Amino acid sequence: MKESKPVVRIAATARYLPDDVLANADLERMVNTSDAWIRERTGILERRIAPKDMTAADMGERASLAVMEKTGIEPSDIDLIIVTTATPDRWLPSTACEVQSRIGAARTCFAFDLHAACTGFLYALSVAEGQIASGRCETVLVVSTEKMTSIIDWEDRSTCILFGDGAGAALVRPSDDDKGILSSYHRSDGDMALVLQRPAGGTAKPIDEEVLRNRDHLLRMSGREVFKSAVQSMARAGSLALEGAGKTCDDVDLMVPHQANVRIIESTARYAGIPMERVFVNLHRYGNISSATIPVALDEAAEQGKLANGALVLLTAFGAGLTWGAMTMRW
Ligand code: ACO
Repeated sequence: MKESKPVVRIAATARYLPDDVLANADLERMVNTSDAWIRERTGILERRIAPKDMTAADMGERASLAVMEKTGIEPSDIDLIIVTTATPDRWLPSTACEVQSRIGAARTCFAFDLHAACTGFLYALSVAEGQIASGRCETVLVVSTEKMTSIIDWEDRSTCILFGDGAGAALVRPSDDDKGILSSYHRSDGDMALVLQRPAGGTAKPIDEEVLRNRDHLLRMSGREVFKSAVQSMARAGSLALEGAGKTCDDVDLMVPHQANVRIIESTARYAGIPMERVFVNLHRYGNISSATIPVALDEAAEQGKLANGALVLLTAFGAGLTWGAMTMRW
């Protein structure tokens, strides 16, 4: 089967990770946990923590400027900015408009936030693909930026060990050859909303004293349920995305999955039939940075020479919503 010609490609990626490191040993002093438990159950050794006064937009700005510098793109060249984040600077206006202003692109493009938790980057790539395919945009900046440490309950050992902060950015442009997005498969399941949520802080439960006392404004997760769904959904989405591109697991040069837990990644890879030698993993250094994990991982994989020209790449993601998806692309 002849490969269909891609409409868009990722022209470049960049990342920003804050300098401060929170190691498992530091967490041992904060909650009843151990380095051994965290390593064995998650694969995480350390994560990056943004300083108190650094926001999601601050990190997004740094990643955006870095990708613009790499490609020589001027602010006025950008037609659309999509910011994916579960940790916006404020509820109103969007973090995307904040990033737009910081990078000097105010008024010359439109900008909005896309909230799909850890799957945000893949959903945003699909929106960018549609905008470019329709001819309305030529250059889309996708920025995934997360200050997960700002919504974590630091007294809950089952979640506070998992997350970190950081940002990744990708410049999406029309494809003029065989490189780019070949297929995608995205789904969500609102029936499972409560297994991973922040119960309060929105209109369903505005913040009041009781909320603060019960810590309901912070992240809650039924880890075991999320784990099971994540493996099944990512593996199936991966297989369907490959099928959509007329490919099989044997064709995949590198799988870049959402980085939440190394056991989830290993199980997903096993179900999808892809050996771990062909799976990119960096969560031991960063933990789960929600929607930023994939652009950060792509940027590191490219830097490490793991994304050869023409490589077939499979992206898979999963997050709150529940949301999940997969994408194949020719690099
Ligand atoms: N240190 C020590 N013990 C712990 C810790 C800890 N940090 N956390 C939990 N435990 C204990 C539990 O209390 C439990 O003890 P018990 O048996 O006495 O009750 C025991 O360890 C086992 O707990 P489980 O929850 O069954 O542990 P599990 O092996 O499932 O690992 C984890 C927990 C790491 C959270 C796992 O379920 C997981 O990774 N889930 C998925 C998370 C994820 O992928 N999220 C992605 C989406 S995030 C987003 O969209 C924003």
